[in-house]
Amino acid sequence: MKYKIIYADPPWQFGSKAYQDSNRTMLKLEETQYDTMDIETLKKLPINNIADEDCICFMWVTDSHLKEGIEVLESWGFKYKTIGFNWIKKYASGSFCVNFAPWTLKSWEICLIGIKGTMGKYKQVNNIQGLIIAERTKHSKKPNEVRSRIDKLFGDIPKIELFAREKVEGWDAWGNEVPKEEQKIIS
Ligand SMILES: C[S@@+](CC[C@H](N)C(=O)[O-])C[C@H]1O[C@@H](n2cnc3c(N)ncnc32)[C@H](O)[C@@H]1O
Repeated sequence: MKYKIIYADPPWQFGSKAYQDSNRTMLKLEETQYDTMDIETLKKLPINNIADEDCICFMWVTDSHLKEGIEVLESWGFKYKTIGFNWIKKYASGSFCVNFAPWTLKSWEICLIGIKGTMGKYKQVNNIQGLIIAERTKHSKKPNEVRSRIDKLFGDIPKIELFAREKVEGWDAWGNEVPKEEQKIIS
């Protein structure tokens, strides 16, 4: 199966000394929630095999993994283009989330766009907003709104979510938390 949309939320490993020293508690929390993968392992995933000639990859990346994120995109055969979504995270109370980080507190996450071939011809609309202001819920869970916006942007073309936790209608899914019978095998 070849896909024109790949939506990935890799389990980044927080290994930097600065990060560890400044924030041991946070590091522990991040890395005990689910298995993580080092950059070289991520780069070697055979994503190019499932990407169609024309394909867009949306990839969540933590700010501290921005450079590595672009490298992973390139290893998978994509050219980094831009930031597709910028999620401003809020608590249920309505105030902005504050996540600890070595230099400034974070209230956002970003999702990069990488392109292989030409995807402009599949675009259905020109009014999809990149800014999402939404409540933070389960640890690492990204807003469902992002999938909906990707659906609106491109309509019904083959799409898969990598490192998914659940299978969503219209999307294939791969990830070690997705029930085996519901997931696609990547090889
Ligand atoms: C950042 S979370 C994804 C969260 C998801 N996007 C959501 O909105 O709920 C990364 C996921 O990758 C999974 N994962 C870690 N190592 C994996 C591996 N070797 N193969 C497949 N999935 C893996 C984790 O278990 C976790 O579910």
